[in-house]
Amino acid sequence: MEINFAGWLPEALLVDLPEIDAQHEEIFHRIESLKTACFENSYVPIDEFDALFEYFAMHFATEERIAEEAGLEFAEHAKIHEDTLGILRRALTEVRSKARDAHSFLRYCEYWFERHIAEDDRLFISILQSGACNRSSSLRHAGRPPFSAQA
Ligand SMILES: [Fe+2]
Repeated sequence: MEINFAGWLPEALLVDLPEIDAQHEEIFHRIESLKTACFENSYVPIDEFDALFEYFAMHFATEERIAEEAGLEFAEHAKIHEDTLGILRRALTEVRSKARDAHSFLRYCEYWFERHIAEDDRLFISILQSGACNRSSSLRHAGRPPFSAQA
């Protein structure tokens, strides 16, 4: 299947799994669209921020489904997803109450997501594609989200 990427997903971040690459592309596209919408503008389209959050959740569920179907041990990666959703949920509450700047939220999303793809998703998909997943491969992840519980 050939996918026409509009250019939001850097080539270096392609993981060579079309369903996942397409979702990564969509997330970068949504982040860029929100940056444009909020640039030099006090209006924050909170519904679109909520939609970005829901898309992150759907994307994480997709990865977890793929891992489960392949019989891959995914608990550590899924915990990263869960922790990140908790951080993003709290940060979004702060954006809504104007305690956090919308641009800060978007910069964090972009930085975290790029690192997550490069370090965690790459490892996951390389194990998936190596066929080693049915041996209950253990994934060792590089790190936790840099925003901690205070976010
Ligand atoms: Fe992931």
